[in-house]
Amino acid sequence: MVSLILFGPPGAGKGTQAQTLAHCWQIPKISTGDTLRAAVANQTDLGIEAQAHMERGELVPDALVIALIRERLNQADAKLGWILDGFPRNISQAYSLEELLEQINQDYNCVVSLVVPEAVLVARLLKRGHAEGRKDDDEAVIRRRLQVYWEQTAPLIDFYRDRQRLVDINGNMEVEAVTTAIKNAVAGYVH
Ligand code: AP5
Ligand code: MG
Repeated sequence: MVSLILFGPPGAGKGTQAQTLAHCWQIPKISTGDTLRAAVANQTDLGIEAQAHMERGELVPDALVIALIRERLNQADAKLGWILDGFPRNISQAYSLEELLEQINQDYNCVVSLVVPEAVLVARLLKRGHAEGRKDDDEAVIRRRLQVYWEQTAPLIDFYRDRQRLVDINGNMEVEAVTTAIKNAVAGYVH
């Protein structure tokens, strides 16, 4: 059973890789960003609360995303593995995830950290901003997302390294080469 946390800065390729791997392993991809964007599009209560934070490139309050993850991990299709994309995003969320997994008698295999130079991240996001119009792919918001990443999310690298669950993967290769590297690395943690 594969239970994987895909970690990395904005534009690192978490969503892209999660999609392929979820299909390959036949397990759900759980993406807080995708779920929040859908909630914004539908103007649900969650979406209305999240929207302004997302448009500024800042994190949505922990309580909202933790509730979302709790509900999702308790669904039937998440009993046999999952890939987390975009969660946890700060130390508090990481502790909440450990608590939550303990409650449902699960664990994660490892945390794949996609490493990509900052200039490449910005170029990828600007390109997508032009092509797809995702609202937070605007240059100023991209800068803020990266700043939030370094301040709040990057400390998780040491958190998971201390737990000996962190695997660094070069995310600055062809998409398929990154996928292969992740599969090879994860094989060493799944039993
Ligand atoms: P989220 O949706 O998680 O966005 P993000 O982490 O900022 O970054 P992206 O989704 O843009 O990057 P990615 O790593 O998924 O890369 P992707 O595969 O898309 O979060 C959005 C917002 O939601 C946050 O700012 C926050 O407000 C809120 N939020 C979400 N989770 C939260 C949480 N846990 N707590 C609080 N708030 C939360 O690829 C990017 C681009 O690069 C694509 O165009 C892709 O085609 C391209 N690409 C990918 N891989 C490659 C490659 N190998 N070579 C060339 N191009 C590539
Ligand atoms: Mg994404």
